[in-house]
Amino acid sequence: MSKSIIVTGAGAGIGESIARRADDAGYKVGVLDVNNEAAEEVASSLTNGVALHASTTDPVQIEQALDIFGEAPDALVNNAGIVRFGPLIDLSIDDWRSVLEVNLSGVFICSQVVAARMRDNGGGSIVNMTSIAGIQPNVNGGSYGAAKAGLHLLTRQMSVEWGEFRIRVNSVAPGFIDGGMSAPIFQDLEIRSTREERVPSGRLGTVEDIASAVMFLCSEEGAYINGNQLVVDGSVTNSLMASFPRPKSVDSVGGGDSQ
Ligand SMILES: NC(=O)c1ccc[n+]([C@@H]2O[C@H](COP(=O)([O-])OP(=O)(O)OC[C@H]3O[C@@H](n4cnc5c(N)ncnc54)[C@H](O)[C@@H]3O)[C@@H](O)[C@H]2O)c1
Repeated sequence: MSKSIIVTGAGAGIGESIARRADDAGYKVGVLDVNNEAAEEVASSLTNGVALHASTTDPVQIEQALDIFGEAPDALVNNAGIVRFGPLIDLSIDDWRSVLEVNLSGVFICSQVVAARMRDNGGGSIVNMTSIAGIQPNVNGGSYGAAKAGLHLLTRQMSVEWGEFRIRVNSVAPGFIDGGMSAPIFQDLEIRSTREERVPSGRLGTVEDIASAVMFLCSEEGAYINGNQLVVDGSVTNSLMASFPRPKSVDSVGGGDSQ
């Protein structure tokens, strides 16, 4: 039986890559984006794509988008997100609020509307896009990290409350991704090479790396995975201690017999 999926923020970057991967896998794909032109362009290039013009922060627009899609999707990927850089000391309150509104409240609003229809349809799978910025503080990231950390907890709460509806809820936390909203960062070659060197896997991530993880969690292969965050970062969040000097053995430290 063919499956259906709605991907928010699918007009560009990671979301577009997820939409294309889902299309390749035979899903009917709802390409939901606040940017109507981008949604139309991606949807029209898919085998079975439907452009859905809506903001994830507006429940009425999400209801209308679902009516146009015509069915409760088997999977929802809450991928839409924004970032507003700036040091906390003089970050505008508008920037603080707008990131929380889209990256945290938008996921709640969109999920609440879609989950009600999934429940009535016997279940589904939801994947929320978090970030390693929600695991480690991200300097000059404004409220982005706080929103993503909150989304991780919201993911776990949804999984507990919605398990009885046979809805699984997980998240994917991308690391340094060479694409989407981070593309401008990696045009600075010094930042690029420093980040590449620090990733234990030896490279930046791609939008396709993230799409693979998302599709795995949406699929039957992930049928018993619920309430988890899958970190897709080449192990960079594990490497904090690797940047501090450390002896190979205690015998090599200090004076006395050890040399
Ligand atoms: N690119 C990265 O390095 C990276 C790393 C970690 C996490 N992420 C997360 O991945 C997700 C996708 O990021 P990206 O890099 O592809 O970004 P992007 O800016 O390339 O694309 C985001 C898309 O979301 C849409 N969008 C924004 N607000 C919306 C709203 N309210 N309703 C509907 N659509 C909306 C935009 O129009 C755009 O098409 C985000 O949640 C982001 O926080 C990205």
